[in-house]
Amino acid sequence: MEEKKKSHKKLIIILAIVAVAAVLIIIFGVPYFQRHFIEVKITEADAIDTGRVDLGTDRILTVYFTRNGNSDFEEGVDAVSSASLMRDGDKLIGNCELAAEMIQHSVGGDIYAVKTEKRYPSSYGDTVSEASKEFDSGEMLALTGELPDMSQYDKVFILYPLWWYKVPMAMQSFVSKVDLTGKDVYALVSHGGSGEAGSVSKLEELSGVTFKKPFYELYDKDAAYAKEDITDWLEGLG
Ligand SMILES: Cc1cc2nc3c(=O)[nH]c(=O)nc-3n(C[C@H](O)[C@H](O)[C@H](O)COP(=O)(O)O)c2cc1C
Repeated sequence: MEEKKKSHKKLIIILAIVAVAAVLIIIFGVPYFQRHFIEVKITEADAIDTGRVDLGTDRILTVYFTRNGNSDFEEGVDAVSSASLMRDGDKLIGNCELAAEMIQHSVGGDIYAVKTEKRYPSSYGDTVSEASKEFDSGEMLALTGELPDMSQYDKVFILYPLWWYKVPMAMQSFVSKVDLTGKDVYALVSHGGSGEAGSVSKLEELSGVTFKKPFYELYDKDAAYAKEDITDWLEGLG
């Protein structure tokens, strides 16, 4: 009788562990699987076809940093093997890149891609390790291309992917090099579940400018389908 009770108890404990494991897999595993192993095919022109929003000026600059364009992807790499990428035909597109195109399509103005002199590895995992080393060293990065003439702009959108709960050193470097004083500055942070994570405050510290609220937090899985939500956000800023 005692033996039977014991094995009954054991069975309940095993069932409880299996149930908890199943819930954890559904909560964390499914989004991870979707993000890392399911190729997101888009039609770029449709994805960025936001509604037009008038912010009262066209002196607007949208600045973005994205892993795509700063990484050495092998010829023919697919979006499946490189998390956070979307594909339109042969073209790979990063989340912040697409969001930047949505903003520009909606409010007009110019667009500027922050590019680093260094190239990031094509592997997602190696990029995560590289970013960790950058934050440990805290050194600003060399950027390529001419900086934009900020005197041409009154409103600036800054878009970056959250890396290790922080602003990538590339975007920190950009903000340290330009003068944002006196401008309306807005942030869009793309992330894999952590939200903005307080990261914008680093850019406020570097620029000496308080960014306008609300910040837009773009969950990476939603990037391809964010045009209506981003239009709503932009309308709220106007
Ligand atoms: C180096 C690295 C670190 C990341 N760290 C975080 C993180 O701390 N929290 C989070 O939610 N997502 C994190 N992510 C996920 C990215 O923020 C997310 O996929 C983002 O949408 C990528 O944007 P992109 O395609 O414009 O580069 C990280 C991604 C990379 C490559």
